[in-house]
Amino acid sequence: MPTIASDATWWRQAAVYQIYPRSFADSNGDGIGDLKGITAKIPYLVELGIDAVWLSPFYPSALADGGYDVDDYRNVDPRIGTLEDFDEMSAALHAAGIKIIVDIVPNHTSDRHEWFQEALASPKGSAARERYIFRDGKGENGELPPNSWGSIFGGGAWEQITEPDGAPGQWYFHFFAKEQPDLNWDNPEVHEDFLKTLRFWADRGVSGFRVDVAHMLKKNLDPAYDALRTLMFGEASVFHDGQHPLFDRDEVHEIFADWRKVFNEYNPPRTAVAEAWVPAHRRARYASPEGLGQAFNFDLLQADFDAAQFRKIIADNLAFAAESGTSSTWVFSNHDVIRHATRYALPGNAAKAGAQWLLDGGDPAALDIPRGLRRAKAATLLMLALPGSAYLYQGEELGLQEAGQIPSEQRQDPTFFRTQGEQIGRDGCRVPLPWEPDGTSFGFGPAGAHLPQPEWFAHYAASVEEKDPASTLAFYRRALALRHELQGAETLVWEQASDDSVLHFVRPGGWHVVANFGSAPVALPAGEVLLVSADVEDGKLLGEATAWIRA
Ligand code: NOJ
Ligand code: CA
Repeated sequence: MPTIASDATWWRQAAVYQIYPRSFADSNGDGIGDLKGITAKIPYLVELGIDAVWLSPFYPSALADGGYDVDDYRNVDPRIGTLEDFDEMSAALHAAGIKIIVDIVPNHTSDRHEWFQEALASPKGSAARERYIFRDGKGENGELPPNSWGSIFGGGAWEQITEPDGAPGQWYFHFFAKEQPDLNWDNPEVHEDFLKTLRFWADRGVSGFRVDVAHMLKKNLDPAYDALRTLMFGEASVFHDGQHPLFDRDEVHEIFADWRKVFNEYNPPRTAVAEAWVPAHRRARYASPEGLGQAFNFDLLQADFDAAQFRKIIADNLAFAAESGTSSTWVFSNHDVIRHATRYALPGNAAKAGAQWLLDGGDPAALDIPRGLRRAKAATLLMLALPGSAYLYQGEELGLQEAGQIPSEQRQDPTFFRTQGEQIGRDGCRVPLPWEPDGTSFGFGPAGAHLPQPEWFAHYAASVEEKDPASTLAFYRRALALRHELQGAETLVWEQASDDSVLHFVRPGGWHVVANFGSAPVALPAGEVLLVSADVEDGKLLGEATAWIRA
């Protein structure tokens, strides 16, 4: 069994690198990234200077939702590897000083999970159906869904089954794709089984868990709520007090209190980070030491490239984290959103412009790519200096842009199909990485890639950037190495900045951080310039740039 360092607080200021396993590195040429591919790239991860990897799901799955439709929580998809490959990868990562966080998907299983198959084969009212959310339909013969709630991926949130005798049957609830039936977390058996899954991976040396849609596990499907027009943005969005029928219900924390007991059985205690799309003031409940320990803070990811917005978000989140005795998390990119180098390359400041750009064809010619990269590097350098954990998404260290132009027939995201293309979906940030400037899949593997890689991926090849001291990769490596060196107590003091478009703060040890969101060059404080995201000219920091200075 691999050993893990006994520091119980390692996660508080960790740099965590998210790997989307199917798109990271393919060892055997089937076009799908795998665990052996990850193991082979450990030297790259070491050079990058991260503390931990978070692996998106690698479990057996039909890939109805990129692996977030799990068939078996305690196994590895044969296309991605075996449990032995996992142990090998885990031992090699730990030997290299890198910890592992795995993704736990407790809100729903896949429809191929043995429990769901058993539910389909069992009668109405059976214990097997009680593990999910089955209801009778409305209408004379139950031919209408139990209510009008919609799936976040488009279409309705209920699917009718055929009963074992062939008759049209009950309906089950699925907030995501119909291949992702929601579990019934009022059922103790569901609860027990997830404790078993947590122990299974913790026993295998996993240090932490990323908890998928943590805010949705407990639900109140009382018919009183049926009339709510839409659950996301309509009348129901007024609930922010723990009483929404689906989101952020107070009793969800009873589950995580039990998970915490399991985490604390280990030395060092295992940790977790909640994916909880809740207002900032409700986040602390997920992140408390009695709960999961940390929660994603998606505020910067949703913000414009704007000094005032950044400042407020940073101040608020540091305060919320301190109140709940934890540290904040920071993130700009992940497998669900348009890469931040692309978001920032769009005209204007609106972070939401990306969705429209995708609908308009996702043409790279419509982007101001140098500007996008300039702003992305400035934002990232600012974020890497903040107290708390930094989450990085594979490829951002290469300055990779979103692949917007994937032919419809090659798209995989259920969002695209369930909305009939009205929403393009998330495939563009999941395209396999370019490791080399040429070859059948830019070095992703010996053969092709499961999503098409555009020609321009060649410009972002890791092997080329590795040799170029001016590359984005060199910049990330330098920033992460310095971060390790400089990081001390989790405090930050704001300094008076020269104007409204500039943020200036100091971390202990005289580590000054100046971020210029405007276009005019600004003077820098006296001291040694440790790293800048763009050039310094005549002692001034250029527009849309960040500098680290040791005073
Ligand atoms: C959040 C995950 O990040 C996303 O990729 C997935 O589609 C949903 N949860 C459903 O599991
Ligand atoms: Ca493979």
